[in-house]
Amino acid sequence: MRMLGIETSCDETSVAIVLDDGTVVTSLIASQIERHRPFGGVVPEIASREHLAHLMPLVTRALADAGLTLHDLDGIAVTAGPGLIGALLVGVAAAQGISFGSGIPLIPVNHLEGHIYSGYLRLESAATPVPERFLSLVVSGGHSSVYDVQRDGLVMINRTRDDAGGEVFDKVAKFIGFPYPGGPQIERAGSGGDGSRFDLPIPTFKDESLDFSFSGLKSTAIRLARQTGLADVAAGRDGEEVPAVLADFCASFQKAVGDQLLDRLTRIWDRLLEKDDEPPAELVFAGGVASNGELRERISAWCDRRGITIRLAERRYCTDNGAMIAFAGWQKWGSRDRFDSRRVRAVSRIAAGTETF
Ligand code: KG4
Ligand code: ZN
Repeated sequence: MRMLGIETSCDETSVAIVLDDGTVVTSLIASQIERHRPFGGVVPEIASREHLAHLMPLVTRALADAGLTLHDLDGIAVTAGPGLIGALLVGVAAAQGISFGSGIPLIPVNHLEGHIYSGYLRLESAATPVPERFLSLVVSGGHSSVYDVQRDGLVMINRTRDDAGGEVFDKVAKFIGFPYPGGPQIERAGSGGDGSRFDLPIPTFKDESLDFSFSGLKSTAIRLARQTGLADVAAGRDGEEVPAVLADFCASFQKAVGDQLLDRLTRIWDRLLEKDDEPPAELVFAGGVASNGELRERISAWCDRRGITIRLAERRYCTDNGAMIAFAGWQKWGSRDRFDSRRVRAVSRIAAGTETF
């Protein structure tokens, strides 16, 4: 059984074919990063136009690479939200057209659910079985949440009250002059830096909330960068050695993001242990920020200390991709009759686990 996955919610056009056991047959990504870079962030209008230009050629190429035709497909999974509305519309309209023309069922997928399950996806081999229950920490450019995922639905345990984790990587990086997207730039510049040189805050709330909050960290880091003479210091330095103060700043910032992720995970875990005799045994770490090596190591070590099995999304499946959408589509395969392909619509803001597509 083969599922075509289509992802166009932001700045990557991606198409994949994934078998029902999670084997990835082919996974193609046309990244638009270079097109958005001059603007320091994603420009929605450009994103839509790029998706329009690249999506159908990618579908054709994915089928050709796999030696298949449309009629060899059993299902089509498409990201229906959340995301940029114009970008989503390109994917949804294309998927609807293919589905309507061929009679292949269409499954609308929540982009966040793509990330949530992506820790179980493996390149070119069968996926790791998805357990009855697991926790999933998704930190991307638009979202930061921990989910308690169960067969009959998922519960969002926390969320960010303001900026997303990846968003603050991007904004702080932009201030010091790194090109978009800033996460990988900060990681590279910070490697070898002293992460304890600058003390950056972990926010807490009076109401004991477990939510994330990254905007205070962003403002403090930007103020610190200004005071330390780091505003725009990285602009045009491509390939040059990173000054020690910049390396220390990037390492300290990255450490502060990790400190907050671990602080929230610890409090969430302690609360679960209090009320749950059988807490989840596995934790997925996914989303663009989960490609960060230091954060992967710290979260893995945190899991090891508690006897939790860590399921790190493979790096290629951390940032947006069609394979995770096809795989999430397989998780919903049993309920495919509920979706009328002609009625599926794109929704720009929608939480994981809610189905009003
Ligand atoms: O999941 P994703 O591709 O898109 C969204 O759904 O938002 O995540 C993109 C985000 C960007 O903010 C990018 O800076 C961040 O992931 N990111 C990283 C790293 N690689 C990508 N953040 C920290 N360290 C990285 N190595
Ligand atoms: Zn994403």
